[in-house]
Amino acid sequence: MSASQAIHRVPPTANFSALEGLRGRSIVSTFDLDTQEIIELCQLAAALEATGLHAGQPLDGAIVIATFFEPSTRTRLSFESVTHRLGGRVLSVADGKNTSSSKGETLADFGEMLNAYGDLVVMRHPNPESMQEVMLGLRLPLINAGNGQFEHPTQALVDWYALLKWRPALAMPDCDASARVHLTVVGDPLRLRASRSFLRMAGTLSHAVSGVTIASSSALSLDELRDDLFEGRPLPFEIDVTADLDEALAAADVVYVNSVAWTAAGCRAIDAELMIDDTAPLQPHAVVLHPLPRVRDISRSLDDTPHNLYFAQAAGACFIRSALLISLLGSLERLDHLPTGQLQR
Ligand code: CP
Repeated sequence: MSASQAIHRVPPTANFSALEGLRGRSIVSTFDLDTQEIIELCQLAAALEATGLHAGQPLDGAIVIATFFEPSTRTRLSFESVTHRLGGRVLSVADGKNTSSSKGETLADFGEMLNAYGDLVVMRHPNPESMQEVMLGLRLPLINAGNGQFEHPTQALVDWYALLKWRPALAMPDCDASARVHLTVVGDPLRLRASRSFLRMAGTLSHAVSGVTIASSSALSLDELRDDLFEGRPLPFEIDVTADLDEALAAADVVYVNSVAWTAAGCRAIDAELMIDDTAPLQPHAVVLHPLPRVRDISRSLDDTPHNLYFAQAAGACFIRSALLISLLGSLERLDHLPTGQLQR
């Protein structure tokens, strides 16, 4: 069975007590979510996936404001799609240049205005400080949909939702050592927001991780990684850094590939020369994740192999983002029809 087929066998769960505490909160950093909240969000997403996304119209009456100052396919459209399917409405800014920011309006003033227009804001911006700036005026819950090269916390939820469906034992706090995963990250996580957020969430789910290898042409020290990824806290698992891609791939249960970086100056590829194709020395069971869009970093020849988890990962974004919107907007009580069960095979 391929990894993408395995997701359909995951039954849902009914214990969402930690999610009640998410009502009205903002998700700016991956560290804004603790272990239990991440696992319950994944369990709620699995329940929504099993029962039908739009059942019950839990966002009826809510307006989600999606403001994107950078291009996006998956993040903006998945948030907007599920808001519609869940019964809510969307105000969409697909290109931030069409706001009065082009006339010099500050993000703080922009945020102050949004308070009158909706119930929750999803924002992407090339400036790492943008979330803090908009929150100077904004009092609605804010979801960081990517702030420059720094963070993309809902992408990390998408990534870990895919992994918990692929191997449900990873959701167990007492995850057996034999089920834990060795993660190989291809690309510099200090310059790529999806990789940084993926590894930060791995730190919060460290019970599920046996170790990490980073394949990058950047000279990364463990001190730098500790200070940046884990804000100076001790590394939650062993990390090796290598420029030898084949060695890094051979060690992996899970390969995370990410090359596209955004800065205020635009898009650039980092470590895209570390390309993976169907001849890569992957273990037979290993799966490959990618936040997409891909550039040269993953060959299409990998698409039809059992290693391809990246398309199922992208499709799952609708359900995990639904779970997040329902929780932040306080709509959990409208989900009383959800069946019971556990996130397990
Ligand atoms: N993964 C991701 O953030 O894709 P988009 O840039 O298309 O939203």
